[in-house]
Amino acid sequence: MNVPANETQFLSMLLKIMNAKKTMEIGFTGYSLLATALALPDDGRKYNIGELSQVPEIIFPMADLSLNHKYLIVHGPVLEYILEKNAYPREHQQLKELREVTAEKCGKRSVMSVPVDEAQFLSMLLRIMNAKKTMEIGVFTGYSLLATALALPDDGQVTAIDLDKEAYETGLPFIQKAGVGHKINFIQSDAFSVLDDLINSEENSSFDFIFVDAEKEDYMKFHEKAMKLVRIGGIIAYDNTLWLGSVAYGQDDEKYSGMPESIWKSKDFVVQFNELIVSDHRVETCLLSVGDGLTLCRRLY
Ligand SMILES: C[S@@+](CC[C@H](N)C(=O)[O-])C[C@H]1O[C@@H](n2cnc3c(N)ncnc32)[C@H](O)[C@@H]1O
Repeated sequence: MNVPANETQFLSMLLKIMNAKKTMEIGFTGYSLLATALALPDDGRKYNIGELSQVPEIIFPMADLSLNHKYLIVHGPVLEYILEKNAYPREHQQLKELREVTAEKCGKRSVMSVPVDEAQFLSMLLRIMNAKKTMEIGVFTGYSLLATALALPDDGQVTAIDLDKEAYETGLPFIQKAGVGHKINFIQSDAFSVLDDLINSEENSSFDFIFVDAEKEDYMKFHEKAMKLVRIGGIIAYDNTLWLGSVAYGQDDEKYSGMPESIWKSKDFVVQFNELIVSDHRVETCLLSVGDGLTLCRRLY
């Protein structure tokens, strides 16, 4: 019945990001209750059912636990269900058009865009954080970039870096049509040189949120640089950290051997990166099974 540990770690992080003080939990598992209490400030209050006198800031309804699916990477009909019944109906029109053009023009490469449900999650997170200044490393045609720009306030800014300007220009008309082009500073460059320039400038430590979605072999190096650029309390999010689930399999495993060569090549980098993050005490972290795996790191100091 307990909420899984990674979900609990995410909820704890969310409570801290929100500066939540007054919460409610419907369904008593003890585990999430304790995690919530640990995440609240000293003068925070957790309401149990029957003890409510005021409207709480956040409510955790317990889902039906009869299906033990919570630890699986969502796929097939379940993913379809999430998309059709939850994500697509709320997708912004320009995001939908950008997604469709990406599929048409980029064919199989369109799989590089973040899935709709993940983009919606990131948008909500940015709004909860009141993020104003963000960075995206790995833009492609701009699905996650447009989702970010839509989530930022009118004076918000996202520094978007990609080597591939042509892909960015595929999505640009939809960004402009959505009226958020002024929030984007696109830099065509290798991200490392942009990050080094920023680290050496007064921009140091001032980003609320950094989204890393580039080559997996570079994640460890990006992490050290991103840690210098994100503010304390800010979030660095790394995409594809479950790498199609390959991280959980050994090379001799039947399931693993059927995976494409491109996955096989980068798997060890993703595994090493995941190990590095868990042992990095400068951040609070959680690995979410949304999309292809999303690791959130909240800088502690
Ligand atoms: C997975 S795609 C990004 C997808 C994008 N976030 C989205 O949701 O549509 C990865 C992108 O990272 C870019 N990239 C890879 N390594 C890079 C680097 N060192 N500097 C800048 N861009 C890089 C690639 O050109 C590619 O467009």
